[in-house]
Amino acid sequence: MTLQYGPINPKCPHFLHGGDYNPDQWTPDVWDQDMRLMKLAGCNAMSVGIFAWTALEPAEGRFEFGWLDTIMDKLADNGAFAVLATPSGARPAWMSRKYPEVLRVKENRVRNLHGLRHNHCPTSPVYRQKVGIINRRLAERYKDHPALLVWHISNEYGGECHCDRCQEAFRQWLRKRYNNDLDTLNHAWWTGFWSHTYTDFAQIESPAPHGEPSLHGLNLDWKRFTTDIAIDFYRGEIAPLRELTPDTPITTNFMGLYTGLNYQKFSRELDVVSWDSYPSWHQQGAESWRLGAQTAFVHDVNRCLRGGRPFMLMESVPSATNWVQHAKIKRPGMHITSSLNAVAHGSDTVQYFQWRKSRGGSEKFHGAVVDHCGHEHTRVFGEIAELGKQLARLDAVIGSGVAAEVAVVYDWENNWALNDAWGPKRGDKGYPATCQRHYESFWKAGVPVDVISMEDSFEGYKLLIAPMLYMVRPGVAERIEQFVKGGGVFVATYLTGIVDQTDLVFLGGWPGPLRKVLGIWAEEIDSLPPGETNCVVGADGNALGLGRSYEARDYCDLIHAESAEILATYGEGFYAGRPAVTVNAFGDGRAYYIASRNDQAFLDDFYGRLMADLAVRRPLEALVPQGVSVAVRTDGTREFLFVMNFTGDVQTIDLGPTAVTDMVSGQAVSGAITLPAFGSRVMQRG
Ligand code: GLA
Ligand code: ZN
Repeated sequence: MTLQYGPINPKCPHFLHGGDYNPDQWTPDVWDQDMRLMKLAGCNAMSVGIFAWTALEPAEGRFEFGWLDTIMDKLADNGAFAVLATPSGARPAWMSRKYPEVLRVKENRVRNLHGLRHNHCPTSPVYRQKVGIINRRLAERYKDHPALLVWHISNEYGGECHCDRCQEAFRQWLRKRYNNDLDTLNHAWWTGFWSHTYTDFAQIESPAPHGEPSLHGLNLDWKRFTTDIAIDFYRGEIAPLRELTPDTPITTNFMGLYTGLNYQKFSRELDVVSWDSYPSWHQQGAESWRLGAQTAFVHDVNRCLRGGRPFMLMESVPSATNWVQHAKIKRPGMHITSSLNAVAHGSDTVQYFQWRKSRGGSEKFHGAVVDHCGHEHTRVFGEIAELGKQLARLDAVIGSGVAAEVAVVYDWENNWALNDAWGPKRGDKGYPATCQRHYESFWKAGVPVDVISMEDSFEGYKLLIAPMLYMVRPGVAERIEQFVKGGGVFVATYLTGIVDQTDLVFLGGWPGPLRKVLGIWAEEIDSLPPGETNCVVGADGNALGLGRSYEARDYCDLIHAESAEILATYGEGFYAGRPAVTVNAFGDGRAYYIASRNDQAFLDDFYGRLMADLAVRRPLEALVPQGVSVAVRTDGTREFLFVMNFTGDVQTIDLGPTAVTDMVSGQAVSGAITLPAFGSRVMQRG
């Protein structure tokens, strides 16, 4: 099977390396230094114009493109490209003053003043019109420019607007969703509770802390609406670009697992997914390597947003960010390793915020390629230039995919619903972290994983893992049954199958529509406060070989095995002896239920056994030392092996007897290799 998606834009079949570039904040003499330094750093792609609206339109209807013309020409002369932004992420002061409607209204119904960024109302006709005009001008001017490579729409869309116009748009959206029928809406939101029944659409308001925060169906629909209105705004932004530059791919930069927008929906609108990745390295002591796994999970989410297509690492920091409590600088080696972590999981770019450190403003202490000293003789610049050289050797990786036999379901709407629920614990239920812990067992083994939504296809996987699948939308349980019937192995946990798409609880016993495939009934759920634990003990002769006792915390489901077999039981308290892990044979496959949140040792043993049983492909025979990651991309013929050391110690990895080619040095390697602290290597085989 070939797994070759091609480059993001055929104009550049190489890795993009570069970053957010704000020449509009500097004088032309600095631009020439920038071009020289870009060459030295091996940078070939600059994101320009992101917050440049005032520089482009200093007064209403007066446009100044001269400076951008010069920059575009200079980039092209330098053999580099522009990831050209539309400027809607921040607006000129003249606009806010003349048209206050462009500014956002907060949940408290107070309109913001001019300031900051990401502060626009998505329904404002004036704002949409102004954005349309400037975007059209940009497209007209640069459509044939050799430097134009990718459109970067706005910047990190996010937030919500609660103005009267947005309220009205929300009501229209609801009318459409509920066929103009208030009874359907009242039922879906269970508004009879506390006498919240609506008798007119006009009574409906967006959720507010001083109004209605407690209707979970309303909260879910408001979030869905917020995503849809952002998509609608985005469609307006891209209309002139599509018309004038049909061959230039379009993206907007996402923010990882940001919950304000449903990226699993929004991503369908993009030609290429891009995201801004800011892990805070070296802050977690001995467990620092774990952040490598957590970040890889988010990279895999982004790769799977468009069915496995390579994505863009649109922003990352060359050393330290400025917005954490303690801005630790990256230890030598970590910059290259963390960048390759993105590449290993599907990125075809390594881009930064920011190219040159700004002189003033709140980001003047944020890491950059070029520091305030203004020259290339810095540790950070040196490591970036070294990475630039390495990326230039990786052309073969461009467009390749990841062949995963395992999928973890991480679903945006499920996260919304879980965290909104008042029980079995208030607030954050730790859903993303739980998915990341399940994922970690595979990361440690070097086994590729897709991270998908519950709407994505389950076909082709051997193992499908859906931790905490609290919300089960229509059709999903049927597709899971289908998957297991056909021979797939499915894993579910506590807090599964509780509510439907509008947060109405499934009646007749949990896990609702998944009860049959899992062969259990979950009668009660216990929520343990921090520090309280139970334990899980393997049943005699259990098929998974779970021998020891594992710690359970946070959540313990009290379940009945109906058709399922018991593999482990609780060890303590009044529910000692009750089932804690079960398996249900169903069709040609089987379905496991893990009733409590168990420690990592449990997950590693449990999945270790499943990987062996299912003969899941792993890139290396030998065990990988803790803190080292092995990841693999493939075009269907060749394999690209990334070995990354996320620890501060030298590590030895056994590559096995067959020689592979080091893609940077070109040398053949086999057997044991050593990696320095935070070191990494990329190899090709086949
Ligand atoms: C975000 C923004 C950038 C910059 C960085 C700082 O990702 O998109 O403009 O503010 O954060 O880390
Ligand atoms: Zn608004």
